[in-house]
Amino acid sequence: MNIHIPRGTQDILPGEVEKWQLIEKKARELCEKFQYKEIRTPIFEHTELFLRSVGDTTDIVQKEMYTFQDKGDRSLTLRPEGTASTVRSFVENKMFGYADQPVKLFYMGPMFRYERPQAGRYRQFVQFGVEALGSADPAIDAEVIALAMSIYQSLGLKQLKLIVNSLGDKESRQAHKDALINHFKPRIEEFCSDCQNRLEKNPMRILDCKKDREHELMKSAPSILDFLNEDSKKYFDKVQKYLTDLDIKFEVDPNLVRGLDYYNHTAFEIMSESEGFGAITTLCGGGRYNGLVEELGGPETPGIGFAFSVERFIAALGAEKIDLQMDEGIDCYLVSLGEEAKDYTVGLLHKLRREGFSAERDYLDRKIKTQFKAADRLKAKYVAVLGEDELKANKINLKSMETGEQKEVPLDSFVEEFKSIVKH
Ligand code: HAM
Repeated sequence: MNIHIPRGTQDILPGEVEKWQLIEKKARELCEKFQYKEIRTPIFEHTELFLRSVGDTTDIVQKEMYTFQDKGDRSLTLRPEGTASTVRSFVENKMFGYADQPVKLFYMGPMFRYERPQAGRYRQFVQFGVEALGSADPAIDAEVIALAMSIYQSLGLKQLKLIVNSLGDKESRQAHKDALINHFKPRIEEFCSDCQNRLEKNPMRILDCKKDREHELMKSAPSILDFLNEDSKKYFDKVQKYLTDLDIKFEVDPNLVRGLDYYNHTAFEIMSESEGFGAITTLCGGGRYNGLVEELGGPETPGIGFAFSVERFIAALGAEKIDLQMDEGIDCYLVSLGEEAKDYTVGLLHKLRREGFSAERDYLDRKIKTQFKAADRLKAKYVAVLGEDELKANKINLKSMETGEQKEVPLDSFVEEFKSIVKH
């Protein structure tokens, strides 16, 4: 029986993995500039963590979690997202006591959701995310959004649309919730069973329903923006002002609700507007979650963050036909002929590598011509040829593959010579 990869997962093979590394590298570099520090948390957590944070009426908790009992009969869950774990760790490690506030963190790693696999939707995917904890300054909202946009732009993505909304504070949300219940209740039986369940507990999620999207009551539903109290309105105005100051274009979309329960005030998504992009256009999502730290046992602490998947980032690069120039080629390929020469290249190769060069040799006892072909495939900048005659004469033939120029170099000082020719 052949064993296949599980549905909704993928192998990232050499040739493709370099794109992942480049995205990770750019994201790390920008986090360094914006002063976000890496945090690594476990892949699995107590199930309770996600019930309390993501919310027990959300699709993630209701349908998508990989939950299992371990041998000690504890209920554990493969993390579906990174905010809950980061906040748990913030509380557990008393980061609220750090001298430097806000605490600005980033993470990168696999997340798991039992979703119906399709283009851009996997059961295991890699999220890169940031969380800034400890500041309720709208400038940090703008900073977080600017960081997300900068990461996309650093790799050349242009066809992006940023949408923002405010979900308001507790008071504003309650007023909006009451208005939504009044709006939908008289005709709730015309909606799907999910929406019927959401009506009392979380009516805002009705606005995000894919099945009932076209229902006339959706279009006339009360907008959160009409229910923002003075403080929430002021906060949202400030976020918009800062985004404008930073030259970041955005659209306000009052229907942007987000699929997780912990949000309030600022919510945002970055979409791909590229034509070739699939049905799921959201690249990145985030928002503010004041109250979550308290919910998980910490002191009152505001927070905001975002996450995007590397999978969708790569799909967006493909849709915009951005060709990442990654394969620069190796510095030197050692071609050898005859047993003694081959023996000699074992040590020579290692010396080159110890000096910091990328280098390779033949391991299949191939003919000279085939070794040259291998050097071509590796895009070698130089090929050094060592045969029995050269070995006897203490020489090696160095050829630049770019210019075709050839040169005899003394074998015992080859690495020194190579260093002076190739500056790296
Ligand atoms: P989310 O909107 O559930 O938010 O996911 C954020 C991003 O993760 C999505 O925009 C998408 O790029 C990626 N993503 C989600 N599900 C999948 C999937 N099945 N396959 C591929 N990519 C996927 C969160 O996770 C929040 N924790 C974001 C956040 C951080 N909010 C505040 N801080």
